[in-house]
Amino acid sequence: MDKLIVHGGSQLEGSVSISGSKNASLPILAATLLTKESCIIRRVPDVSDTNYMLQILQNLGAEVERASGTVIVRAEKIGHEAPYELVRKMRASVCVMGPLLSRLHKATVSLPGGCVIGDRPVDLHLRGLEGLGAEVQVEGGDLHLKCRELRGKTIDMRGKHGTTVLGTDNIMMAAVLAKGTTIIEGAACEPEVVDLANFLNKMGAKITGAGTTRIVVEGVKELHGVDHTVIPDRIEAGTFLVAGAMASTKGITLKRVEREHLTSVIELLQDAGFEIEGSGKTLTIRPGARRVGCDITTEPYPGFPTDMQAQMCALFATTPGISVVRDTIFPQRFMHCSEMKRMGADIDLNDGTAVIRGVDHLSAAPVMASDLRASAALLLAALTAKGATEISRVYHIDRGYEHIDQKLVDLGAHIERLKV
Ligand code: EPU
Repeated sequence: MDKLIVHGGSQLEGSVSISGSKNASLPILAATLLTKESCIIRRVPDVSDTNYMLQILQNLGAEVERASGTVIVRAEKIGHEAPYELVRKMRASVCVMGPLLSRLHKATVSLPGGCVIGDRPVDLHLRGLEGLGAEVQVEGGDLHLKCRELRGKTIDMRGKHGTTVLGTDNIMMAAVLAKGTTIIEGAACEPEVVDLANFLNKMGAKITGAGTTRIVVEGVKELHGVDHTVIPDRIEAGTFLVAGAMASTKGITLKRVEREHLTSVIELLQDAGFEIEGSGKTLTIRPGARRVGCDITTEPYPGFPTDMQAQMCALFATTPGISVVRDTIFPQRFMHCSEMKRMGADIDLNDGTAVIRGVDHLSAAPVMASDLRASAALLLAALTAKGATEISRVYHIDRGYEHIDQKLVDLGAHIERLKV
């Protein structure tokens, strides 16, 4: 298990290129199971989660080639069983359910287990697939799904915590080859859902309304191969904006971003006192006249993303004043705060809310990454802390950030990776 040693206090400057989106790549890779033809997917980030998904596809029988960011998948002959050894490594593996059911009319997928960011049920995925005609049984920790055929219907994606991103993806992928028209009400509007819909439409699907809460899928008989470039990773971009906010007096520039996907993050950083310039594909962040604490509540897109909550906690830990950060999507996703307290942060946690009183500086301490975004937050905190912070369990960060330590080093950070 690698460790990162981060020597705090370096000033970041220069530019960084943002990778393709992990969370768009995962369902898109699963969607390649919907056709026998070859699919070419460009700008797939080289992170552990995309590698796990490719292993699942290979295990199902697909042929996979990967060279410098481009992945080619040919799922000519495939089976229907995704085993526990692979599924347990990544929750997003549940998004093979929709395509397998759609193409083979059966799927056996291990039920994903618990997750450190909170209970992550799949009831809404299953309710939607049942609505389209699937029978679902749970046996030996596996979900067994089968149907004679899938039939279009109106499916409501809303549960007690709101809508679901991968659930919306699963229903879209199941519905593309179903008989008749499926209407997904209360659909997730995330850019990653839109990217999947664009991918499916290029394959010959008939989907309209992606990006709104009402998606209409008209079933087609067959899908074909496709060449697609994944959208930029808005969470990686947001993380680098926070790095620039925390550790750069001259400012840093992000290249290959989609500004429109970052509106809520940009507005919040502007409210917190930073200047952000640029339109389209490039953004520059610089310090403004003064930094101020803010209140954030995470919400489904276009609201403030839960996947940026931890990074904002790192920023507010050393921002003058009191900031209040509330996560309504994953109220238990605050492990990073307990670790940052070990670095001297002043944070009270209560019921899905962190009350952060900004301190003058953080101090290096050995800390442990607990999940992907928590590890990004610790890395950000360590960039400005006094001394050398040792971050262990960095495999969490490698799940979703492509070479983040190298990208930060290229911007001027002093980080060593210890292979342990
Ligand atoms: N939920 C249910 N039932 C379900 C599904 C979800 O109650 O059947 C609840 C969840 O417990 C949660 C809320 O609905 O409270 C939203 O969860 P959602 O299903 O939208 O999450 P997801 O689709 O499993 C994706 C991202 C996450 C991101 C969330 C929310 C991928 C691969 N994952 O997960 O990304 O936090 O949407 O935006 O796209 C990350 O990248 O670090 C990450 C965790």
